[in-house]
Amino acid sequence: MRQTIVAGNWKMNGSKESVSNLVTGILAGMAEVQSKVIVCAPFPYLSEVEALATHSQLQVGAQNLNVNASGAFTGEVSADMIKDFGVQYVIVGHSERRSLYGETDDVVAEKVQVALDNGLTPLFCIGELLEERESGNTEAVVSRQINAVIDRVGVEAFKNIIVAYEPVWAIGTGVTATPEQAQDTHAFIRSLLADHDSDIAQSTPILYGGSMNPANAEELIACEDIDGGLIGGASLKAEDFLRICKAG
Ligand code: PGA
Repeated sequence: MRQTIVAGNWKMNGSKESVSNLVTGILAGMAEVQSKVIVCAPFPYLSEVEALATHSQLQVGAQNLNVNASGAFTGEVSADMIKDFGVQYVIVGHSERRSLYGETDDVVAEKVQVALDNGLTPLFCIGELLEERESGNTEAVVSRQINAVIDRVGVEAFKNIIVAYEPVWAIGTGVTATPEQAQDTHAFIRSLLADHDSDIAQSTPILYGGSMNPANAEELIACEDIDGGLIGGASLKAEDFLRICKAG
């Protein structure tokens, strides 16, 4: 049985004050939550969020990492630095990184590898564009994205990877994949892992992301192959986020 995981992706949002209020609000409701809960904060707030979350069930993640260990990479943050804060998770390959910062499948695969090598758990994101879905290429796209990582780190590494399926057309748009659309693609992703190892396919968490909110979370998470959610907009309000966490 896979545990439900709900992860918040705050993206580039927040202030010292709002972040502290958000974490305090989430912590206040955690006693009633069964799911594993992770919040992925912008780098400047990681230390504060990690400090607030210490001794609680709340887990903390970063949103990106650089593949180099250290050196002349102005503006970048290494896996070691993330670990240094006691942070355990890192989002890799989010569609915004792929589309706005040119991260290719190879770059994403390398970031997954570096995260794993440094003891971080990657939240590895995949998903198709609207035109790719409309032209019937969803399965080809997610296969390519998953296989780039399997080729690099091997299927065994998925013991320490959380997959997030995020159809790009559903991210931040208010248009959610229907439970059928999401379930079909999740089952397909699991079958890709099963082509290599059926036990790993069964144990790998596959989260859905893309306009998940308190109103649709329960129905999505109830689907057999949907093991939780990666939540953007609705993770910025403690009350909404907690309602999603309780849906699992
Ligand atoms: P959204 O974002 O929930 O605002 O659609 C999800 C994500 O980008 O991870």
